[in-house]
Order: sequence, then structure tokens, then C-alpha cells
Amino acid sequence: MSSSAPSTEKAKNDRALRFYRDALGLERLHYGMWLPDDELTMEALKAAQKRYEDFLIDSIPEGTRRVIDVGCGTGELCLHLKARGYEVEGLSPDINQKKMFAEKVEARFHFTKFEDSQLEGGYDLIIMSESCQYIPLDKVFEVAQQALNPRGYLMVCDYFVLDQNAGELSKSGHDYNEFLKKAEESAFEIVSRRDITLDIRKTLEIADEWAEKILLGADILTEKFRERNPFLWKIVKWFGISKYEKLLSQKVLIDADKFCAFKKYEFLLFQL
Ligand SMILES: C[S@@+](CC[C@H](N)C(=O)[O-])C[C@H]1O[C@@H](n2cnc3c(N)ncnc32)[C@H](O)[C@@H]1O
Repeated sequence: MSSSAPSTEKAKNDRALRFYRDALGLERLHYGMWLPDDELTMEALKAAQKRYEDFLIDSIPEGTRRVIDVGCGTGELCLHLKARGYEVEGLSPDINQKKMFAEKVEARFHFTKFEDSQLEGGYDLIIMSESCQYIPLDKVFEVAQQALNPRGYLMVCDYFVLDQNAGELSKSGHDYNEFLKKAEESAFEIVSRRDITLDIRKTLEIADEWAEKILLGADILTEKFRERNPFLWKIVKWFGISKYEKLLSQKVLIDADKFCAFKKYEFLLFQL
């Protein structure tokens, strides 16, 4: 198996993983599925993430035995699948996830990008939970078809871009219509689907609440410094401005209303 993730990408992944695990205490990397009356708390977020995984597993068609979790993150879903009796394998191009998987799950791990994977085949089901968006669109169905048994399944649960003119929000996720067009042209057919955009919305709301608190905290912490050292503050701002502006421009990514207007988070189950 190859391991061709560019180092900058790896570093980004490592940082994100460390932030989720060490700073937030989260074992999972996806948005989860909330209940309408859930409070915006860390406990509710963890429960939402567990609920999402239960939903994926409960959606697995009968007769499925051999499963590969593509972009398996921290390996939680694989653990969960193993506990439910499936034969599981994980795949990720991230070195940190490879190590974590080895410590956590007794199962085969493929250290590679899916598009480069050259899997030997024989799977009943491929799961792509929030990982499909990282795989080149022209490879998703082609490589999945090669790896699956006849009449095998591909489960995709991810967010897609509805509007290509929505700035930062258009930059992550496959274009929804293009994705469906590729699916239509492939050998797969959709056997079940569910729009879960509203179910994930509270993850954005809680992230926005945290971001506001962090920005307010930074404002309070720098208040005295700004008052006492206006000149120095100008220099600090001048050096830090591009990072600060980037942060602000990216805050739109956790704007729940905009996300729901310009993106769609959907569960799709395909069959060959
Ligand atoms: C947002 S995380 C989702 C992790 C996990 N599936 C979950 O639901 O928590 C995205 C995952 O996709 C993986 N990934 C990124 N590019 C990939 C590629 N080209 N092929 C396979 N996996 C990839 C990342 O390493 C990471 O494991």
C-alpha cells in the first residue's frame, strides 16, 4: 500500500486530531446527529456522535459481513462495527490515525489514500463517513466498484456544496449536483437516502458559541495591553492581521444558517 498524503495535509490532520482529542476530549471527528431538544453541551455533542454511528450501523443492509471504513479517523466506528459482529478493516492516509488505530482496533489497516489504494476486493460494504469529500470525485465510484463484491454497497454520509458562489463555504465538499451526476453515470444505484442537514446543525451552533467565547476571551485578555501599549498593539495587529482576518473569514464555516442554506449533509446508500 502506498502512503502518499502530502506532509502539509498530514500536519493539518494531526493538529485537528490533537485539537479534537486533547483540547475538546472528543474521540470522533464527525458532526453527529442531534435531537431537536438537545442543549448545546459537550455531553450532548458526544451523544450526538454516538447516535450518528448507531444510525450508520443500523442502516447496514442484511447479509453484510466484510466492511471497510474509508477515512476511518480515530477508529471509533470500526470498534463499534466489530462489537456488532462485522469483519472490519480501516483505511486512512494519515500517519497519526494509523498509530491510533493500531492501539485501539484489532483489525487490518490500509495506510493509503482511497484513490491510490489498489484494494484486493471482496468487500460487502464500503463506508465513507465524512471522508468522501476528500476523494477525487472521478475516483469515488470507480475505485469503490473495483473493491466491492457483486451487488456490494457503498455508504456515503457527508456534506455537499449546493452553491458554488458561497465563498469559503463552497470550498469544502463535492458539488452536490456533480456528485449525483457521477453516481448516475456509475454502475451504482441509490437504494436509500436521508437529508440530515438539520440533524447536524447544532454542532455548528455549539462551535460558533465556543468561537465567540474564545474571541471574547482574547479581547478581554488583550484589553489592558491595548490600553497601555497602543503603539505596540498596532505592530502586533499589523503582524497578526492576516491570521486574524483569515480566522474571521473562516468563521462563516460554522455559521449554521449559512451552512444550511448553501450546503447539504446527506446519507446515501448505493448498491452495485
Ligand atoms: C472528517 S474525518 C472523518 C473521520 C471518520 N470517518 C469519522 O466519521 O469520524 C476525514 C477522514 O478522511 C480521511 N481522508 C482524507 N483524505 C483521504 C483520502 N484521499 N482517502 C481516504 N481517506 C482520506 C482523513 O484521514 C480522515 O480519516
